[in-house]
Amino acid sequence: TDEPLTNYANDSLRDAFPQGRILYTGSQLWKTILDNDDQLEVLRRLKEEQDITMWGGNATSIDILVKSGSLNKVRQVLSDENIVYHVTINDLQKAIDEENPPLDEDEDFDNRNGHRLTWQAYHRLDDIYGYLDYLAETYPDLVTLQTIGSSVAGRPIKLIKISNGQTGNKAVWIDGGIHAREWITPATVTYIINNFISNWENEPKSVQNIDWYIAPLLNPDGYEYTHTVDRLWRKNRKRAGSCAGTDLNRNFGYRWGGQGSSKNPCAETYGGSGPFSEPETLAVQRFISSAGAKWKAYVSFHSYGQYILYPWGYNRVVPPDYKDLEAVGQQIAQAIRNAGGPSYTVGPAANTLYPAAGGSDDWAKGSMKIKYAYTIELRDNGRYGFVLPANYIQPTAKEALAAVRVIADAASKA
Ligand code: ARG
Ligand code: ZN
Repeated sequence: TDEPLTNYANDSLRDAFPQGRILYTGSQLWKTILDNDDQLEVLRRLKEEQDITMWGGNATSIDILVKSGSLNKVRQVLSDENIVYHVTINDLQKAIDEENPPLDEDEDFDNRNGHRLTWQAYHRLDDIYGYLDYLAETYPDLVTLQTIGSSVAGRPIKLIKISNGQTGNKAVWIDGGIHAREWITPATVTYIINNFISNWENEPKSVQNIDWYIAPLLNPDGYEYTHTVDRLWRKNRKRAGSCAGTDLNRNFGYRWGGQGSSKNPCAETYGGSGPFSEPETLAVQRFISSAGAKWKAYVSFHSYGQYILYPWGYNRVVPPDYKDLEAVGQQIAQAIRNAGGPSYTVGPAANTLYPAAGGSDDWAKGSMKIKYAYTIELRDNGRYGFVLPANYIQPTAKEALAAVRVIADAASKA
C-alpha cells in the first residue's frame, strides 16, 4: 500500500488513498461446520491461496469470507471435502452499505446538546471524542479526561475517569476498539459511560465506589481507516515493509510472540516487532502500571461470538484462581440473560476459542496481577459478524452494561 509516510495535520488527508474505498461487492460470508482437523486444514489452504479470509469461529464452526472471484472454487473444494456450510451474507458490500443508515440530523439534534453522539448509529472518531470532551466540561466533579498517548498517525488515545473522588476506591479498567472493525465495541463502551454518568446518583454503591478508567477506542487510526478505506481492517496502521498494521491484541508483553500470533507483517495477527512495539499498547501499559490505582478488574470489549473469556489466552492452561473467574463469568452470562440478552459462552480463552498470545487480558492478569481480567466478545453469533447493523447497538450495549455491573460487584469484594 502506498500510504504517505508523513503525518498529516488533517484527518481526511491522513487516510486518503489514491485507490479509494475497498469494495466487497459479491463477496459472501459462509458459516462452515467442521468435525475434524483435516477440514480445518482445507480452510487454511484456501486462506493461503487467498480465496477466503477467516472471521470468527471456534473448533467446530468457522465463519469465512469468500471472495467474489473464488465462490465457485470454494464451493467445489468444500463439497469435495464434505464440509457443510451455509451462506449467511449474500453480498458483503450490500451488508456494509446497509449496516449504518444515516441519521436524520434535524430530528436527532434536538435531543443532543453539546455533542453529536447517539447509540442509533456508528459514529466517526470526532463524534466519539467530542462526546468525551463534552462530558469532561459538563461533569467536572465526576469526570476527568486524559490523553494517555498517541496513535501511530498522531491521534490522541483518550481515557475518561469516572470517580466519586473518595480515596481508597478500587479501580476497574474498560476498553473498546482494540480491533478496528469491531464497531460495536466503542459504541457499547460509550453507552456504558453515558448510563453511569446520567444515572450516577442512583447507581449502587458497588458502582459508585469504583474508580472507572474507560478508554472507548484504543485504535483510533484503524477505526478511522475502517470508515474511510477498508471496513474490515483489524490492526493498527503502523507500516512494516510493504504491509501495514500490527494486531494490537497480539502486541501486549506477556508471553508475547507465542501461539496464534504471526511474525509476518502482512498477516492479520502480526504481533509487531516486539512486545509493546506499538504506541497504542504502550500507552495502556504505561498508564495502568503507573496510575497508582487499586486495580481489581480489566475488561476488553471485542466482537464477535458472544463469549466471556478469561486467561489464559496464550495456551490451553488456566491460572490458579480460575474458579473465581469462571464463577464471575457465569454470573455475567446470567445477568445478560436476565437483561433479555442471548446466551454468552464462558471459559478460558485458549480452550474456548483458540490459543493467541499477546492479548491484553493475559497481560493484565499475568503482568499486572489484576484479578478479574476478561475479554468479552459481544454480539452476534455470525449472522452479521463484524457488520452488525446499527439497530443492534442498544440491545448489545444494554447487556454489556449488565455485565459491567456484575464486574463492579466482584471488584468491590475483591
Ligand atoms: N478474538 C480475540 C482475539 O483474537 C480473542 C482474545 C482472547 N484473549 C487472548 N489472550 N487470546 O484477539
Ligand atoms: Zn477483537
